[in-house]
Amino acid sequence: MARSYLSFYSLSLVSATLARARLSDYVDPLIGTEGATPGSAIAGGNSFPGASLPNAMSKVGIDTSYLGVPNETAVDCNAGFSPLGNVTGVSMMHVSGTGGVPTYGLISQMPLIGDLNGINLGSNTSYWQNRSFSEETASVGLFRTKLLNGIAIDISSTEHAGLIQYTFPSDVAAQENINASVALPIGESSAQTAHVLVDLTHVLPGYGTQAYSQKFLHGGLHLSTGADGSPSYRGAATYTGGWSQPQTHTLYFCGNFTSPNGNLQPTSDYVEQNTRDGVPGAGTFSWPYDPVLPPSFDQRPLPRSYNDVVAYAGSGMGIGALFSWNPSSANSSSEKAIEARLGISYISAEQACANVANELPESKNLNDVVEQARERWENGVLSSIEVVDNGSVASSNTTLKRMLYTAMYQTGLMPTDKTGENPNWATNASRPYFDDLYTVWDIYRTLMPLYHLLYTPTYSRVLSGLISIFTIEGFLPAGRIANWNGRVQGGSHADMVLADAYVKDVVSLSGQHGRGELGNDVDWEEAYKAVIHDATQLPIRNEDPVAFDGATKEGRGALDDQLRLHFITRNHTRSISRGVEYPQNDFAIYSMAKGMNRSQQYILLDRASWWLNQWNPYANTTLAGVGSFTGFPGARNQDGSWNFTDYDPLSCGGCGWGDDIYEAKVWETAFSTAPHDMAKIIQLMGGDDAFVQRLDASFLPGFGTSVGENNDAGSALFNPGNEPSFMTPWLYNYAPKKNWKTVNQTRATVDAFYSDSRSGYPGNIDGGALPSWLIFNLIGLYPVSAQPIYLLSAPRFSSLSIKLFSGTPQATRLNITAPGLSDTSYYPQSVTFNGRKLDRSWLTHHELGGGGTLVYRMGSMPAEWDDGERPPSLTPWH
Ligand SMILES: *[C@@H]1O[C@H](CO)[C@@H](O)[C@H](O)[C@H]1NC(C)=O
Ligand SMILES: *[C@@H]1O[C@H](CO)[C@@H](O)[C@H](O)[C@H]1NC(C)=O
Ligand SMILES: *[C@@H]1O[C@H](CO)[C@@H](O)[C@H](O)[C@H]1NC(C)=O
Ligand SMILES: *[C@@H]1O[C@H](CO)[C@@H](O)[C@H](O)[C@H]1NC(C)=O
Ligand SMILES: *[C@@H]1O[C@H](CO)[C@@H](O)[C@H](O)[C@H]1NC(C)=O
Ligand SMILES: *[C@@H]1O[C@H](CO)[C@@H](O)[C@H](O)[C@H]1NC(C)=O
Ligand SMILES: *[C@@H]1O[C@H](CO)[C@@H](O)[C@H](O)[C@H]1NC(C)=O
Ligand SMILES: *[C@@H]1O[C@H](CO)[C@@H](O)[C@H](O)[C@H]1NC(C)=O
Ligand SMILES: *[C@@H]1O[C@H](CO)[C@@H](O)[C@H](O)[C@H]1NC(C)=O
Ligand SMILES: *[C@@H]1O[C@H](CO)[C@@H](O)[C@H](O)[C@H]1NC(C)=O
Repeated sequence: MARSYLSFYSLSLVSATLARARLSDYVDPLIGTEGATPGSAIAGGNSFPGASLPNAMSKVGIDTSYLGVPNETAVDCNAGFSPLGNVTGVSMMHVSGTGGVPTYGLISQMPLIGDLNGINLGSNTSYWQNRSFSEETASVGLFRTKLLNGIAIDISSTEHAGLIQYTFPSDVAAQENINASVALPIGESSAQTAHVLVDLTHVLPGYGTQAYSQKFLHGGLHLSTGADGSPSYRGAATYTGGWSQPQTHTLYFCGNFTSPNGNLQPTSDYVEQNTRDGVPGAGTFSWPYDPVLPPSFDQRPLPRSYNDVVAYAGSGMGIGALFSWNPSSANSSSEKAIEARLGISYISAEQACANVANELPESKNLNDVVEQARERWENGVLSSIEVVDNGSVASSNTTLKRMLYTAMYQTGLMPTDKTGENPNWATNASRPYFDDLYTVWDIYRTLMPLYHLLYTPTYSRVLSGLISIFTIEGFLPAGRIANWNGRVQGGSHADMVLADAYVKDVVSLSGQHGRGELGNDVDWEEAYKAVIHDATQLPIRNEDPVAFDGATKEGRGALDDQLRLHFITRNHTRSISRGVEYPQNDFAIYSMAKGMNRSQQYILLDRASWWLNQWNPYANTTLAGVGSFTGFPGARNQDGSWNFTDYDPLSCGGCGWGDDIYEAKVWETAFSTAPHDMAKIIQLMGGDDAFVQRLDASFLPGFGTSVGENNDAGSALFNPGNEPSFMTPWLYNYAPKKNWKTVNQTRATVDAFYSDSRSGYPGNIDGGALPSWLIFNLIGLYPVSAQPIYLLSAPRFSSLSIKLFSGTPQATRLNITAPGLSDTSYYPQSVTFNGRKLDRSWLTHHELGGGGTLVYRMGSMPAEWDDGERPPSLTPWH
């Protein structure tokens, strides 16, 4: 039917695409894999450099060990990857850019070569391999590395499956780790034998916080032979631990192996030991499993020809399988490769097999799968922003393009679309479901607003998914991963995400909520119920070893104080953070209540100012040579008195779960206390001049203190490496005629802390949060959360064309040009929007969302063009 037309159409699209340079060529997934110390991931981005499709459940990549790396460089490998760690496997699920204890790194394979007589298959340090950096590359859809033992690994992926190609060396004379004095457990293996090891206990372990480290609990594995003699396996494995502290989660898998050119044949060894139905070249094994201590060499697991192996919960056993091939003598000199096709599912092994059958049929080879991935990223993500080359240097800066398109790629990795893959939503299988909202605290400010503008259809499904989590599980999520809602860091920020969508009218610019095509997908009645639930229902008080008041799974654990006292006391952990964040959430909910004409709007409006009860007007600090500053958020005793114990506006105390303030200095938090009431904040800080002076002081080097190695950068009080400071350099826009300071400071921040190198981010990229901040800075806009406005700075390219609301009836383009822009000429002299001269440094969502052209005329000196209306504030400006 339409097929021939379609394939003709896509062919001409492909040739048109091939003619141009492809946007994916600017993407370098290794940006953000290293910190400031070469070779170490400490304070790096924790970017995931493996293969994935946009928002896909499969994120296939190498896992490396933190053990044995040079001193001072060992750190949790949250995305599996570290620059120097030895490879212990290739696994199917990862997250990108997160901190905290690692989660996933599940369902792994490890290629091995040789007779394995000296290898302990239960000990990853026995078979791990370092790799050759010069031969390691990452690009959209393809990650390639080469182990020191000569095995090359090519990784690509689809939604729920991965295609991993292992190319084994012909010359294995240099093979290490072979201890010929040990009796042969592996049958006829020789130095030429190729293997793939499957270890169901493999997880990304926690180095910093072993108490929460993931652990294998139980599972089972079944081997079988395909019609053509290919070995295959399927089964399930159940894990606990990791960031959200899930009780358990079970993954199913289904995989098989083929030798594309027939040069490797399954060994026959296991069959000979077997009595009945062994799968040629494959065996299963088990051993007493200790998550921290591998079995001794004497107790090492030995593969047997049994097709089934099961470890019940409580058995304490680890299980795995080994697949082995020998070169076929006929073709011994040509390439020896094994293609592994491995599918995953949270539903069943059958579903995992169906995912392989549907997504990775044998008719598709590695190149096909890589090309498919590139097309998906080009069309679905990268082409949303076009840098228009108008001949000027500032329109063709390759460094900035690499930063832009890599950041866009990195915003497309999470959250993870697990629609149809939530085992507890059996009767709602078709509802959109997104997991790895890791964490909402990180992504509500800039990532979700970016999704709204650029990846609108996905955005609408993320919103529906959020609401379904409330409907089915009872609470909106906070730092959700592994199908588990926690952990909660501060406020209930899914409220911000939903209210942000609501006040921006989803994509319907008609002025009527929910009337746009996508608006219809969002059940605003249910969304309102969900946010009201956050604001009124104390969540279950799950115990948590690092937060004495517990309640870290979901909701507002300090709601008892908030409702009774209208501030949070030190009877709760993170009291300052929660004391200022809950009122922001309440303002967001107020906006929904008002729009929906609900009577709760009045109490919510009142609650939106309760942060004032957390503001200590006496707290003060002096910066030598700069000045004294009075008035900061403060910690309160149960009787309401201010507590100055261990209180220092320049620090964050311990910065963690058990402390007064979470991952931000008191100074930083002062600026992020009430984005909805900046008039009041400015008043409390002493007026415009004092406010600007305090902002200026935030960027001076030398006054800062650390908020934790993975979350900060630089030495100023402003922290470019973590979300609480995201809006700070933009706050000059709240004072008249100071937009040029926003332009200068955002530009300085990008140039000092972001680059296109592996250490190109100032901290963990947090599921795409930092990349989304970077993108907004490069295009010169900042979305104010849960308010329908964007603050303006200035673009870094002289001509941009941005596709807004692509894939929806409201699709339009926003073109941004900056005549006169150069490395020395970057201050807006005048700004026009659709031909109209602007005198205010912000636009409404309604204005911007209608598309058109935004023109910044640039010059080398600051200009005070922005003397008009200030951005909205709850307390009126005067
Ligand atoms: C690494 O640090 C440990 C503990 O501080 C020390 O025992 C060891 O000697 C150090 N190793 C090297 C190679 O510096
Ligand atoms: C990494 O693995 C290699 C084998 O490839 C081994 O020789 C080396 O000792 C391991 N590295 C560390 C730091 O233990
Ligand atoms: C490697 O083995 C050690 C000891 O058994 C274990 O603690 C660690 O989690 C393993 N690493 C990976 C990546 O599985
Ligand atoms: C690999 O597994 C998939 C899913 O079960 C199946 O469709 C395919 O035929 C298998 N290939 C081989 C060679 O066994
Ligand atoms: C490209 O942008 C970078 C980052 O701002 C800057 O350092 C560099 O000078 C620019 N290159 C050119 C050729 O303008
Ligand atoms: C302190 O919090 C606990 C719950 O963590 C609660 O049971 C107790 O009543 C609170 N005490 C006061 C004085 O509010
Ligand atoms: C500054 O803070 C101290 C407590 O640290 C307090 O005693 C003093 O009164 C404060 N100064 C002002 C001007 O509020
Ligand atoms: C601060 O609170 C702690 C208990 O959380 C208490 O021991 C201490 O006395 C308080 N300090 C002041 C100055 O109120
Ligand atoms: C621009 O910002 C940088 C970095 O904070 C600062 O050093 C510089 O003084 C600022 N320039 C002006 C003109 O204020
Ligand atoms: C916006 O830019 C695109 C790409 O350069 C161009 O095709 C389009 O005509 C521009 N729109 C306007 C209104 O200038």
